[in-house]
Amino acid sequence: MVRRMDVYEALLTRRSARGFRSDPIPQDTLRRIFEAAQRAPSWCNIQPWRVWLTSGESTAKLTAALTEAASTSLPSPDFPWPGEYPAPYDARRRECGAALYTAMGVTREDRAGRQAAWMRNYVAFDAPHVAIVGIDRRFDIYAALDVGCWLQSVLLAATAEGISSCPQAALASYPAPIRAQLGIPDEIGILFGIALGYADPSVAANACVTDRQPLEDNLRFV
Ligand SMILES: Cc1cc2nc3c(=O)[nH]c(=O)nc-3n(C[C@H](O)[C@H](O)[C@H](O)COP(=O)(O)O)c2cc1C
Repeated sequence: MVRRMDVYEALLTRRSARGFRSDPIPQDTLRRIFEAAQRAPSWCNIQPWRVWLTSGESTAKLTAALTEAASTSLPSPDFPWPGEYPAPYDARRRECGAALYTAMGVTREDRAGRQAAWMRNYVAFDAPHVAIVGIDRRFDIYAALDVGCWLQSVLLAATAEGISSCPQAALASYPAPIRAQLGIPDEIGILFGIALGYADPSVAANACVTDRQPLEDNLRFV
């Protein structure tokens, strides 16, 4: 029996999981999570998120195709990734990477270890379910903002259900095999994926805990 939690507890306990058990999430639980997230706000209520959710064989085929693409070609995402991260964001990005690699026991000099850690993205960290999320290519930043509201709604509803998750921009790096596997039409640009399942606590990467800046770095009470 899942113990439900209030929204503050979900906000404070959610974190990205990077190692999952293989057991699938019951279909009614998946439905509840995505039905709840369907209530996310969006500008003029356009609800621009377009989602393909895999289970079982479709997850296996998708991650095999992504691993093959990542082993043989360079990323070519539908929406360009950020280039340089200016200060102070560059330091936060480095700290985030360092926290993950430290948890995994991968050193700075260990290029092969880092590459192997990165490749784990393409098997969605062994999650039994992957949500591939896109928007109509004619949209711009405001539709992406709507999808961000939807994303956090999914993550919080999943947390409340005892389900772990990891949003993954890495899953948008190779749109061609994703489109071929899932039949995603060309007019939908792929934004990111979400790994969903039950976290495996024995996976070292799951010991990674990120921190946050003090509130005053981001917000002024006026
Ligand atoms: C849009 C988005 C894309 C992300 N892409 C990846 C990714 O490709 N691989 C990954 O391991 N984590 C990814 N993350 C997870 C972030 O690294 C993580 O949210 C951040 O470090 C804070 O940690 P927490 O989620 O555990 O609180 C992504 C998060 C977001 C919101």
